[in-house]
Amino acid sequence: MKKDQAYLILYYFMPGEGEVVKNKWAVLKFGGSSVENASCWRNISQIIRLRRSQDYRLVVVCSAISGVSNLLDKLISQCQSQEQSKIILEDIYLKHQQLCDQLEVSIDDDLIASEFQKLRNLAQGLNLLQHCSPNIKAQMMSIGEMLLTKIGFLWLKKQAFKTRFLDIKQHLVCEKEDYASEYQHFLNARCNYASDEHFKTFIEELDAEVILTQGFLASDHKNQTVLLGRGGSDTSAAYIGSKIDATRVEIWTDVPGMFTANPKEISSAKLILSLNYHEAQELATSGAKVLHPRCIEPLRARGIPLYIGWTQRPEYQGMKVDQHAKGNFASVKAVIAKRNIQMISMDSIGMWHEVGFLAKVFDCFKKHSLSIDLVTTSQSNVTVTLDTTTNLVNSDDLEGLCDDLSKICKLNIQRSLASVSLVGSHIRSILHLVSPVFKAFEDRNVYLISQSASDLNLTFLVDSSDVDHIVQKIHAMFFDSVEEGGVFGPSWEDLFTKTPVESFEEKQPWWRKEKDKLIDIAKESSPTYVYHLDVISEAILSLKDGGVFSRVNFAMKANSHPKILNLIYAHGLGFDCVSIEEIKYLFDVIPGIDGSSIFFSPNFVGLSEYQQAFERSCAVTLDNLDPIVQYPELFVGKEIFLRFDPEVSKGHHKYVKTAGKESKFGISMTEMEHVLRLRKELNLKIIGLHVHVGSGIRSAHTWADNAYFLEKIARHFPEAKVLNLGGGFGIVEKPGHRPLNIELMKQSLEEFKKAFPKFELWIEPGRFLVANSGVLLTEVTQLKEKGDKKFVGVNAGMNSLLRPALYGSYHEIVNLSKLDDKLEIIADVVGPICESGDVLGYQRSLPKTLKDDVLLISTAGAYGREMASEYNKRRPAGQIIL
Ligand code: LLP
Repeated sequence: MKKDQAYLILYYFMPGEGEVVKNKWAVLKFGGSSVENASCWRNISQIIRLRRSQDYRLVVVCSAISGVSNLLDKLISQCQSQEQSKIILEDIYLKHQQLCDQLEVSIDDDLIASEFQKLRNLAQGLNLLQHCSPNIKAQMMSIGEMLLTKIGFLWLKKQAFKTRFLDIKQHLVCEKEDYASEYQHFLNARCNYASDEHFKTFIEELDAEVILTQGFLASDHKNQTVLLGRGGSDTSAAYIGSKIDATRVEIWTDVPGMFTANPKEISSAKLILSLNYHEAQELATSGAKVLHPRCIEPLRARGIPLYIGWTQRPEYQGMKVDQHAKGNFASVKAVIAKRNIQMISMDSIGMWHEVGFLAKVFDCFKKHSLSIDLVTTSQSNVTVTLDTTTNLVNSDDLEGLCDDLSKICKLNIQRSLASVSLVGSHIRSILHLVSPVFKAFEDRNVYLISQSASDLNLTFLVDSSDVDHIVQKIHAMFFDSVEEGGVFGPSWEDLFTKTPVESFEEKQPWWRKEKDKLIDIAKESSPTYVYHLDVISEAILSLKDGGVFSRVNFAMKANSHPKILNLIYAHGLGFDCVSIEEIKYLFDVIPGIDGSSIFFSPNFVGLSEYQQAFERSCAVTLDNLDPIVQYPELFVGKEIFLRFDPEVSKGHHKYVKTAGKESKFGISMTEMEHVLRLRKELNLKIIGLHVHVGSGIRSAHTWADNAYFLEKIARHFPEAKVLNLGGGFGIVEKPGHRPLNIELMKQSLEEFKKAFPKFELWIEPGRFLVANSGVLLTEVTQLKEKGDKKFVGVNAGMNSLLRPALYGSYHEIVNLSKLDDKLEIIADVVGPICESGDVLGYQRSLPKTLKDDVLLISTAGAYGREMASEYNKRRPAGQIIL
């Protein structure tokens, strides 16, 4: 086991802060995909062993093997056909046989065989009756859990655990709910979860290390089997935990927790590591599938912490839910979309101050058993929404409802809407932070805005066709640059890729080995940028490797040192230029360069720049139609690229996000008709399409998203063979940053290429190729203290490195003269420029630092020297290749 894994185990399995060990019961629940094969059961036994080593006594709650509940459901719905029943029964048997074979448990053991016999008898009965009552359905469905727990029990016994089998139906009794329908009573029951001394004593006296029992099942007062609703095993674990005053409840599943969005739709969604009970409840009810919505309340009521474990990687720290959640301050934790929402707007006929109108309206919903999701009211209107997925609304129910409602009000029904909710604590107190979200709705219909009374969500009702786009935009706003650790963990794509998280070991930066040389350079001349060319070559190869990209153009605005440009050219890369001066410079410093290796992507420049770029045979991209309108003759019959605005922008700072209505870059999709008209009139050949969403992006699917966006546009331009997906490839700048997963990025593009082989893919990275190759060396000029505050003054200022002042960028700063000395002081590292913002690093830990010490500022190879100036008439840092 690796060191960091061991750390994770310790971290995860130690009782958390504020968690008092009242007794030593832990309830562990394993869902369908966590019990389906031998490897799952090996993980289960590893987890049991760990908990046992911490003196926990365990109740292990299991669901049926994944897929079995669906098969049982099918068996019931197709009970009329004897033939079908036989096939389904066979399927069910085979699934269990496979598991038994893997676990070397005999399927003919009486314990198991008796369950199959019961199932066959019930199926036969249904064949005769041709009908299944909720009571029988509950009995049949329960067999999935009984079978699995019996197999598990036989296997665990062989592992030398002192294991006892518990039929949970004898101990979990559902509440009598007079108003409940038969369906609800048998298939969607609730149980009392008050502390249960009798049950506790009973299981204590079982004298077992592990008590294995079923999720999903309970019984009623007549001892008939009832179910807790699909996914109800989580709730079983919570009920049991609450009844026996467990110290902890753990839900083990195939994901380590809930995410900041549905990861199937947004792969950059981040794992949420810590939630309070209310937030977890809100997320579970809003459709995040990881937890059954009813499982939170019993735990909240008793203050029992809930952990989500990842069965496939038991050592991994997953999500924790308790009242001491780390992010207990006001914040947005997730963006959730729900589809299939219907909005019913009801205008009263003569209502101002009409008493009882609401009661009449809600009565109609009750009569048709429809539960309302959102409500807004005004003087003369009540508008509600129905979630048709959870309500299982059929057209008869709705017609009946509308008939009744139309007797008391005027109706307007909007079908096919969707809701987008921001979920998190105290949303009302952070409206100022949430305000940018409103931009995501510009030009879109918003039918209703609702802010929940619990202050846990803010919901917008929109057209279904807009929902994906809006969620993507909002998610990028809140979560693209959140730091890992504390409340949020890694993204879905980072967790579920071939590159395991642990393999991101920090590499020693190149400058450690070159310390003495660098000090000599600084003593000779400082401030100075120093570059290491091997680091650039390595970055180039990592992008080119695998041949996904037909062409890589270096965005030379990141670094234009002639030696670097020549090295990059020698590697066979092209260039992305944004001014005619950059193009001319390339012609000056790279002997024999051909204009065709240059991609010209300017923004709001004079027309002559386009003309000169065409004359030099550069590929030209237009991100605005105005140049064509102004000077059509220049473009007649020309081959050009068009840069479109995908509206979803990303990047490390708002100044480097280059998409969306607020951004000056890219042609809006709303201009498409105009584009097509000009293309026809001037016989333009749109040979390629271009997009660039921002800079400093570490979410691997970004470029595949760009490709799919451009592919849709390309349907208008059959002549377009190249999709230029832009630059923006981020690097690790700060401790805790997770690197961009290059392999995953390429993998997602390979998939795109498989689906659309006719396109060449181009990219234009700047930062990724050069940032790590460069450092800025500077010497300490003065030291100062003001009260507790310390300043270390250096001879490089914001005129040499602007990024910290402009974007608040973080560059690691080390004292090279005392590289391995103990860190003793915390100081702001400041430059000599006459601006309060001339700070290269706030509150940095440094060793005892003295005048003339050499400080090194890392990851300065991109947009460092290029953005330097002579502000204050001060010469910026020079440049040296090592
Ligand atoms: N392509 C286009 C159209 C661009 O606008 C840019 C950068 C790139 C490619 C290269 O992006 P890169 O791969 O380097 O992220 N000064 C800022 C970065 C500004 C980027 C401007 N455009 C910084 O220091 O972070």
